[in-house]
Amino acid sequence: MRITILSLFPEMFSPLETSIIGRARESGKVKIEIINFRDYTIDKHRRVDDIPFGGSTGMVLSAQPIVDCIEAIDPSHEAHRIFLTPAAQILKQSRVMELSKKEWIILLCGHYEGVDQRAIDLCIDEVLSIGGYVLTGGELPAMVLTDAVVRQVEGVISADSLINESHTNGLLEHPQYTRPREFRGLEVPAVLLSGNHAEIETWKNKKSLEITEKYGTN
Ligand code: 6GU
Repeated sequence: MRITILSLFPEMFSPLETSIIGRARESGKVKIEIINFRDYTIDKHRRVDDIPFGGSTGMVLSAQPIVDCIEAIDPSHEAHRIFLTPAAQILKQSRVMELSKKEWIILLCGHYEGVDQRAIDLCIDEVLSIGGYVLTGGELPAMVLTDAVVRQVEGVISADSLINESHTNGLLEHPQYTRPREFRGLEVPAVLLSGNHAEIETWKNKKSLEITEKYGTN
């Protein structure tokens, strides 16, 4: 899979060089490119934003650098192009799994007050938010989406580890324990030490339901 991230702040993306995502890149299972769309502005002062029509405060990213950048890197519209904005549907695990099957995804990171809607209308296939709060830009959301999607790409994480995790079957995961059996007076639940696989499964399902009931799955 290939993920191309368009951002004015390419230096923010070093977290994607580390750990599981870093290894997935090194092994060639995923190719991640960061492109600064400022390189595509035709403005002589390299500006990429302007004041909004209609008299709001703040600045708006101009359509030209974004549209020219996307057309230059994906001239025949092969990629699935996503714009990250708080004014959108919130990304869910079901969508993450679908996105992990795409050959190529382009992620456009907005900044400032917003992006000229014509860039979205001309170039973007899908708009996504990562939650009900506002961030300063789309960079962290692009990293969140990339992490969530790349870990679903075949061979990045063992298939076993992906089966029972939270949000996969509409449930949140049960609590986990490791050694020692007792820590600061707190015991591992006895059923987990019983060796009775049927009872262990029942316990895990019960805990899963309790936690899902308590927190919901959004
Ligand atoms: Cl995708 N962008 C920004 N700026 N803020 C957000 C978001 C995206 N998702 C939640 N908050």
